[in-house]
Amino acid sequence: MSEDLITGVAPLGEVGPVADLPFAPVQLHVRRARVGDAADLARIVGHADVFPHTLQMPYADEEIWRTRLTDMLEPGKPDLMLVGEISLNGGPAHVQGMAGLHQAGPQLRRRHVMSLGICVHPDGQGQGLGWALMAALLDYADRWAQVLRIELHVYADNERAIRLYESLGFETEGRLRGDSLRDGEYVDTLCMARWHPSPPRLPATRPASSNQL
Ligand SMILES: CC(C)(COP(=O)(O)OP(=O)(O)OC[C@H]1O[C@@H](n2cnc3c(N)ncnc32)[C@H](O)[C@@H]1OP(=O)(O)O)[C@@H](O)C(=O)NCCC(=O)NCCS
Repeated sequence: MSEDLITGVAPLGEVGPVADLPFAPVQLHVRRARVGDAADLARIVGHADVFPHTLQMPYADEEIWRTRLTDMLEPGKPDLMLVGEISLNGGPAHVQGMAGLHQAGPQLRRRHVMSLGICVHPDGQGQGLGWALMAALLDYADRWAQVLRIELHVYADNERAIRLYESLGFETEGRLRGDSLRDGEYVDTLCMARWHPSPPRLPATRPASSNQL
């Protein structure tokens, strides 16, 4: 999937070029994050209706995101951080969501495993951006990045996110009791994971005898 394929995903569930829709108020675009997105990422993650649903801390900061992005964008780093932009009626694009794939651990034997995180600013939610970001990350993982297993943690009461993950092939593998402190309370999280639905294989080689006909 090219990044432009995501462009034109318009109101919930309708996928297609914007030009084919009778009216297309919303245009979505997914691209790799740049260091210059740091302020937008801090704005999204720092929103009071976003960070409590993640493992992020209060007081998100642009400089911290600048450092993180700089580190992730070093050549050879396995991380992929995408941002999702929304434009209205062909107007300017605003970054309203982000999603990342990160190495699950340093162990050689877990090279095939990556962890996933996602969040969308409340102003951008419910317009297909979360789905578009997930679809782009999964396409990258399945077809380009040698990833077989993708893991994530989600709060057990985050029904919207759980539905989104399940719709894209994630399964719940366990419940961790009191796993995270959220606004003064220990709350449960679910471990979810998705195994590559059809791992790439070598093309079948023709037997030598079939060339000698
Ligand atoms: C969870 C979250 C990422 C979802 O993002 P979103 O942009 O609001 O989600 P979408 O608009 O893509 O909608 C997802 C829904 O649309 C469906 N959908 C959207 N576009 C679709 C498409 N093109 N094709 C099929 N389904 C689509 C999804 O399956 C899902 O269905 P639902 O209505 O049953 O929920 C977002 O609400 C969020 O960031 N919340 C706060 C932070 C958070 O919870 N992060 C996750 C931490 S684990």
